[in-house]
Amino acid sequence: MIVTGSERRISELCSSWRKEGLTVGLVPTMGALHEGHLSLVEIAAASSDRVVVSIFINPTQFGPGEDLEMYPRSIDDDCRAVEALGAFAVFTPDVNTVYPDDFSTEVHVAGVSQGLCGTARPGHFDGVATICTILFGIVKPDLAVFGMKDAQQLAVIRRMVTDLRLEIEIVAAPIVREPDGLAMSSRNKYLSAELREEASLIHGGLFAARQLALTGEKDCSLLRKAFIDHLRKAHMLSVQYAETVDPYTMLKIDKIENRVLLAVAVFAGTTRLIDNILIEPEV
Ligand code: PAF
Repeated sequence: MIVTGSERRISELCSSWRKEGLTVGLVPTMGALHEGHLSLVEIAAASSDRVVVSIFINPTQFGPGEDLEMYPRSIDDDCRAVEALGAFAVFTPDVNTVYPDDFSTEVHVAGVSQGLCGTARPGHFDGVATICTILFGIVKPDLAVFGMKDAQQLAVIRRMVTDLRLEIEIVAAPIVREPDGLAMSSRNKYLSAELREEASLIHGGLFAARQLALTGEKDCSLLRKAFIDHLRKAHMLSVQYAETVDPYTMLKIDKIENRVLLAVAVFAGTTRLIDNILIEPEV
């Protein structure tokens, strides 16, 4: 497996594969890989001939006071893990390579990037859309895999790829959960044992809301309430948002007629965790 920070090297490598008629799958990451990320690599390996994993902690998607400096780093372990799954290359550019001094572009995807994390983290999705456009331009993948835990990110990337006619298949990977239901996240490392225990209520709350919908409840305000009520058992969790939205447009939905995504952001102490669940209407 090739590990390189050189944009030219990775771009030439991918172009040589394409000339051989091989398809390229990209898994963009910020490193500190857990089983959720590894499932993305497995999906990419099953759907393309050559998998490239990018590892880049993208500063432009972090706001002031967020965890850019302390974001966990484990590059050697990350490389070993993705190599074992059949990745052919890991792209690890440095910040100056990605954003040279005269870099002047920002990709803004309107509509779908508003609300939810877009409100809670202003500018976040501009950073995500910009870095993904850069990575897509360097690697020129046939497909790219994104996790469904970051549902709004997935929707933003899908919208962007469609609008800009990027001819990249965006593959959505299911959320991978810990045995107690907590969605895997690099930020789970920040949690103390007490917070970690309480954090598993998030998943319980999502399932309680879905259960209510399965009994025929169509009023989304009651589903959101069921989630929030479930978390009342916790002392150290505070809900930043719990919204029912369309999974593609991220527009708010008040009544279940089609599939609805219940998307939540919860602070466990100072650590912000996001999660979601798809709710299908009873037919
Ligand atoms: O989901 C992430 O880890 C990041 O937002 C991504 C897609 C790698 C862009 O930096």
